[in-house]
Amino acid sequence: MIQDELLKALANVKTLNEIEQIRIQYLGRKGIITNLAKETDFSKLSPEEKKNFGQKLNQLKNFATDQIQETLNRLTAQNTATPQVHRLIDLTVSGSACSLGALHPISMVQMELEEIFEGMGFTVLDSPEAETEFNNFESINIPSDHPARDMQDTFWLKNDMVLRTHTSSNQVRALKRFGAPFRGIFPGRCFRYESIDPSHENTFYQCEGLMVDRDISVANLIGVMKTLLSEVFKRDVKVRLRPGFFPFVEPGFELDLNCLFCGGSGCPTCGDGWIELIPCGLTHPKVLEFGGINPNEFSGFAFGLGLTRLAMMKYGIRDIRYFNSGDVRFYEQFAPII
Ligand code: PHE
Repeated sequence: MIQDELLKALANVKTLNEIEQIRIQYLGRKGIITNLAKETDFSKLSPEEKKNFGQKLNQLKNFATDQIQETLNRLTAQNTATPQVHRLIDLTVSGSACSLGALHPISMVQMELEEIFEGMGFTVLDSPEAETEFNNFESINIPSDHPARDMQDTFWLKNDMVLRTHTSSNQVRALKRFGAPFRGIFPGRCFRYESIDPSHENTFYQCEGLMVDRDISVANLIGVMKTLLSEVFKRDVKVRLRPGFFPFVEPGFELDLNCLFCGGSGCPTCGDGWIELIPCGLTHPKVLEFGGINPNEFSGFAFGLGLTRLAMMKYGIRDIRYFNSGDVRFYEQFAPII
């Protein structure tokens, strides 16, 4: 009976302290087993019975001591084993996902264009966003009284500086620096003081291109534009040329891209089925002169590709306002999938 009770009590212990309590309860000075000997009147027992009792009591003591010691061992083993389990590394558990950053879609398109143009022998030039009035207007045949200045609403800075309204601001700087023959592109951010809607931004990206050499004609211009667009969209795209007016080209054109969203039937992004994508033309002789180049010897073409519009077409982005939104959910969609 005592054994059963002891085993039952030991089965439930959880702490070393509880074991000690049980030890005291059974084997302590006033413990159950100790009391058995104290409570027995040995004088009434025969020598045979005394011997028997003594043996039984010893067995009981030993049993209790062993059981208590075993329980103690079990509990200590558990306690030391637990932290070891935590320290183990389970190589089969999948790691926690880390999120990768993404390039801005404009950066991706810009890098792609740079590669395509470099393949055609063009140099890639960086140029300032804050420009002189001369570079942004005068040097490309837009004098201060010219009505074309009203075509582009300008952010004016101090000292007759402007936030460039287009990347054409770098044309004469490049010609002065490199002379002719020249082929280069100038990608960069431009600014116009205008209201924002799904297809207009006051901050957007262009990629200017300028090629000056002997006998450059419209055929060269069309050839380069076609190579460019088929490489960007990896397929044949429909384009159309309309006459366009820009003071720094003569003749000037608007190269429109057939809308890739609606296939030309008209949608909120394009309006009438065409996206105005590449204004272009043959370089005006005055621009060459400003760049120190003899227009009788050299001719050229220029284009001002709307990088932002191109990114919209390429990635199916229907609202230009996403680009500058700072909305991480938008940018995350361009993160590489690993
Ligand atoms: N700079 C012009 C614009 O932003 C585009 C353009 C560039 C047109 C080169 C012709 C040649 O509107």
